[in-house]
Amino acid sequence: MRDVSIDLEHLSADLRVVLDSINEGIHIVDTCGITVFYNKIAASLDNLDPDEVVGRHILSVFPSLSEDTSTLLSVLRTGRPAPVRQQTFRNYKGDTITTMNSTLPIYSGAKLIGAIEVSKDLTLVKGLVERVVDLQAQLITATDTRPGAGSARYTFDDIVAASEPMKDVISRAKRAAQSGSPVLVYGETGTGKELVVQSIHNSSPRGPRPFIAQNCAALPETLLEGILFGTARGAFTGAENRPGLFEVADGGSLFLDEIDAMPLALQAKLLRVLQEGTLRRIGESSERKLDVRLISAMSSDPATAVERGLIRRDLFFRLGVIVIEIPPLRKRRDDVPALTNYFIKRYSSQFGVEVHGVTRGVSDLFMEYPWPGNVRELQHAIEAAVQLSQGYLLGIEHLPPHILSDAPPMARPDDQFERFGIPGRQAASSEALAEDAGDKAPLVPTLEQIEKSLIWAALERCEGNISATARYLDIPRQTLQHKLKRFNIDASDMRSDI
Ligand SMILES: Nc1ncnc2c1ncn2[C@@H]1O[C@H](COP(=O)(O)OP(=O)(O)OP(=O)(O)O)[C@@H](O)[C@H]1O
Ligand SMILES: [Mg+2]
Repeated sequence: MRDVSIDLEHLSADLRVVLDSINEGIHIVDTCGITVFYNKIAASLDNLDPDEVVGRHILSVFPSLSEDTSTLLSVLRTGRPAPVRQQTFRNYKGDTITTMNSTLPIYSGAKLIGAIEVSKDLTLVKGLVERVVDLQAQLITATDTRPGAGSARYTFDDIVAASEPMKDVISRAKRAAQSGSPVLVYGETGTGKELVVQSIHNSSPRGPRPFIAQNCAALPETLLEGILFGTARGAFTGAENRPGLFEVADGGSLFLDEIDAMPLALQAKLLRVLQEGTLRRIGESSERKLDVRLISAMSSDPATAVERGLIRRDLFFRLGVIVIEIPPLRKRRDDVPALTNYFIKRYSSQFGVEVHGVTRGVSDLFMEYPWPGNVRELQHAIEAAVQLSQGYLLGIEHLPPHILSDAPPMARPDDQFERFGIPGRQAASSEALAEDAGDKAPLVPTLEQIEKSLIWAALERCEGNISATARYLDIPRQTLQHKLKRFNIDASDMRSDI
């Protein structure tokens, strides 16, 4: 029978090159605990030479470890992966290193043949995150008494709300701003949670005080714990005295985004802090009084998140004293025209393009399309369309193709009619064009759109042949070419369509 442990010792040269070039430390031992592979990154993290490690038992190279504390040896004993662990240590050079380690058994079929430890160097990430916390703290001290000391930019004036459900959201959020209770905002991605959360802070009595935001999904557990609660020197090797975000947000609001991504152990600690109203930095014995309003957000329904065990029920009751649900855009379609006009105005002035509205086809399509990315998707679609258009009205041809292909079928034929200027649809389209432009009926863009539709129809009839189309329309070929360029119409599209 094949000796599988030999396979491990003789990792192919190609595999060694690959494992040596990746950006994570890799340490592989055989079933006896002898190192068979130790890559350059692992060597630089530990400040050792691979030759000092390979071929030797792990405990003889790392004397500070024991049978119990070495994760590689315990994985060999149990045959099961060890929980992902953060480690902060000083290497022989004296550098403080923070790593996230995953340790896994290696099997060949049913037979355990070794264990592998993958170490991700978080030193840089940790340093950067701490720097951001320090800068936020400095910024807040420097501007403490002025409005908007934190980073909340939005106010309720920035939120478009034409539909009843959205008006309801705004009135609940305004009431929440005046009460000091914790608020939990939830809604699908792109529905405007950040906008609502910042507006709540800005119009609350804490508005002039700091607004600090942290995404709970962005950092591994132990890093997040230190960042939120702060650390005291000596808490662990390399730990320094530093405040956490709770302290930086003192007197203001702390926004915890994607709260359902916070590991349960950390949720328990957060709950204690909220219940007691006091905070202890990691490794510190004294307590500090808390004066922070907590606002949290998540994209799934909190009741479901509690049922699925993503959020502790007791924490949910603490966080969600006031709960605000922002419905998805497909459930408040009355907001679509208002948001469309709002973004057209914004991007027209930003890009210096004079856009007055959308065609009937686009407005129908927008009312049918499910908007899985919600307001953010609509915003990006309009941003792109305004740049592609040459002013006047945004047409189907300016929209990102996925919107067309994902739209329900009934949303599409109308636009095809309009696009090709099919008789009988024209009058309706023209009326709609005027409507789309808001309370004005600008003549020039409307006429331009009709002209464009007629050219499309003629091109289709003449199978994309430019000379034939010019003859059909009774205009010089050069004039037609000029118009095609101006309207951004590609006649070859027509040829391939047919
Ligand atoms: N009602 C609204 N009026 C104006 N702009 C809006 C509205 N809702 C959302 N937006 C805009 O849509 C974009 C997405 O909003 P926001 O970042 O608040 O969404 P979110 O719910 O926090 O999304 P995610 O879950 O992905 O973080 C932003 O550019 C925001 O300005
Ligand atoms: Mg957000």
